[in-house]
Amino acid sequence: MSDVETLPRAAPARPELPPPMGLLAELTHRCSLRCPYCSNPLELDRRSSELSTAEWKRLIDEAAVLGVLHIYFSGGEPMLRRDIAELVAHAHDAGLYTNMITSGVGFQPAVLDAVAEAGLDHIQLSVQAVDAQTCDRVAGYDGALQRKHAVAVDIARLGLRLTVNAVVHRENVDQINAFVQLAEDWGAARIEIAHVQYYGWGLVNRARLMPTRQQVEAAMADVEEARAHTAGRLVIDCVLPDYYARYPKACMGGWGARLMNVTPSGRVLPCHAAETIPGLVFDNVRDVSLSEIWYQSASFNAFRGTDWMKEPCRSCARKELDFGGCRCQAMALAGDASATDPACSLSPLHQEVVALAETDAASGRSDFIYRGYQGV
Ligand code: SF4
Ligand code: FES
Repeated sequence: MSDVETLPRAAPARPELPPPMGLLAELTHRCSLRCPYCSNPLELDRRSSELSTAEWKRLIDEAAVLGVLHIYFSGGEPMLRRDIAELVAHAHDAGLYTNMITSGVGFQPAVLDAVAEAGLDHIQLSVQAVDAQTCDRVAGYDGALQRKHAVAVDIARLGLRLTVNAVVHRENVDQINAFVQLAEDWGAARIEIAHVQYYGWGLVNRARLMPTRQQVEAAMADVEEARAHTAGRLVIDCVLPDYYARYPKACMGGWGARLMNVTPSGRVLPCHAAETIPGLVFDNVRDVSLSEIWYQSASFNAFRGTDWMKEPCRSCARKELDFGGCRCQAMALAGDASATDPACSLSPLHQEVVALAETDAASGRSDFIYRGYQGV
């Protein structure tokens, strides 16, 4: 690739629209684990289609010029990329705050040393459960928890700032206190307890993952109690399923408001599940500059602001607070991405969704459909 091709490209900014705060760089869909709620799409990008080192570097430069502050290296498992330390160093030198989201599995300890040496600012280590039997079963990988423990020890040795990512669902939502204890044992400053999101793999497995209302209420009480007794030591962020909630979550902080998500092969999305919305066309960084995509693309502008909203969102006092919920969840549950998210109690579909959640939670199913390249 020539120097000209690797220069960052820019497009004119729209003064009324701030630049994105963060860029989620999904470096690869390759991963040793097979979690049945993976946020990657059902059709995974192959290694042969991944952006090259030079293409990622140019993208990082474009992000810095655009005004992005944080880069989140993600996947799949980002540490499987042979150039991972080179990309971290490049982002660090471009002035970005660098964050690695890892499963902890599938790479040698030396790779962790290399990314720390390259200037990594922060690491997020996922854990599927606090006991090996559940963790390994959910991850679809024998020895996963043991490996994660070893990585946590290395993270502490390297002095990297750590957040523990606990994805919760029916099989582990009763482990809140134990997750918090594990985060403290691993020396984390923060734990993110996030319920499975029901798109893609999570939607396929919803009956196997949906907790009961009683479980969710108990988990919320556990989180409050844990916050009280870890105050000053550990930050606990928590997102529980909104199927049982009164109002939906403000997904992504609003569509096209804060984040850009780049897939391994260079498609740029407003959120990781945006490709589940038919009719949207996503530009590729191989063809269009990041700046142009942020400011001018049809996909990023599709649900920006509030003009696109229908009733009841259009005249709702909360429309600037939760932005009508999640567009991908509206698509999945209402068949219309511009509908009010049916998780909202004001949606005409809300009672149906609650009934769906209760039926799924009572199903007793545990036959996970694991993430894999075969799709479903
Ligand atoms: Fe890999 Fe599981 Fe994380 Fe998906 S959720 S990236 S499969 S560890
Ligand atoms: Fe796409 Fe919520 S996941 S808008």
